Amino acid sequence: MLSAMDTVVTLERRDDGIAIITLCNGKVNALSRAVTGQLAAIADELRNDPPKVVIVTGGDRIFAAGADISEFGGPEEAREVTVAIHTALDAIAALPRFVIAEVAGYALGGGCELAMACDYRVASTKAVFGQPEILLGIIPGGGGTQRLRELVGISRAKELCLTGRQVAADEALRIGLADEVIDHEALRDRVLELAGQIARGATVAQALTKQAIDEGADLSLADGLRREQDLFVEVFTSEDSQIGVQSFLEHGPGKAEFTGH
Ligand code: COA
Repeated sequence: MLSAMDTVVTLERRDDGIAIITLCNGKVNALSRAVTGQLAAIADELRNDPPKVVIVTGGDRIFAAGADISEFGGPEEAREVTVAIHTALDAIAALPRFVIAEVAGYALGGGCELAMACDYRVASTKAVFGQPEILLGIIPGGGGTQRLRELVGISRAKELCLTGRQVAADEALRIGLADEVIDHEALRDRVLELAGQIARGATVAQALTKQAIDEGADLSLADGLRREQDLFVEVFTSEDSQIGVQSFLEHGPGKAEFTGH
């Protein structure tokens, strides 16, 4: 039995600007109320004092096996579960930084939903994705019906959610559920390489790019294009925009050393 003080999600903030969120909840990283609560609190902390890039991982064997089924009951408990998972995952999705999911193993149900709430999924060859809720006679309650549709399209999302079928890494890559598949042993190195590249980049421009793309998804094309214009103007108030443009004029492309401001 967990006490209220048990740590089931950890946050490591590294000197190079990379923040690593690690789920560490027992055998399968079930997304219990304690996990979603701590995840939401960590997301709040990162929103108030953002690092340069965020990694979400469940460790070497499993990403997360979904909501904690032992906390299910009737509709009243269901409301609490779905609100808690949505609150945590929406807070992760809304972070003003690139969020990379490092998926080493099973990402099922809420685990798949957490991976999809991140901006980018790097999966190991051992990763398995799926929305198996239908096999319990229920439906995804952490954003699965919506975010899966966005990633893989309407018909594939329906097939996966209605059968509960598990998707291996190579298929996940093919249908757009995973963005990269890496040998299991090389997964962490690749994730750190990508995170390091982002951490050395123009942080303000990265944040505004994410904002433009995410906000545009909820707007008409015309409104999204207008929003991009405003954010394009805004980015020129950043120190890095001056550094980047000046560096290009003096030394050519790709040589700028950004400050992150
Ligand atoms: N919630 C609560 N407990 C869970 C769980 C979940 N989502 N998923 C697994 N567990 C528990 C199991 O009941 C088992 O408990 P026990 O050791 O007390 O018997 C323990 O975690 C290990 O699970 P097990 O199935 O033995 O491990 P495995 O390595 O063989 O398989 C999974 C791992 C993730 C493939 C498998 O546990 C699974 O399919 N889990 C359910 C996924 C799911 O349906 N998620 C959607 C929830 S709505």
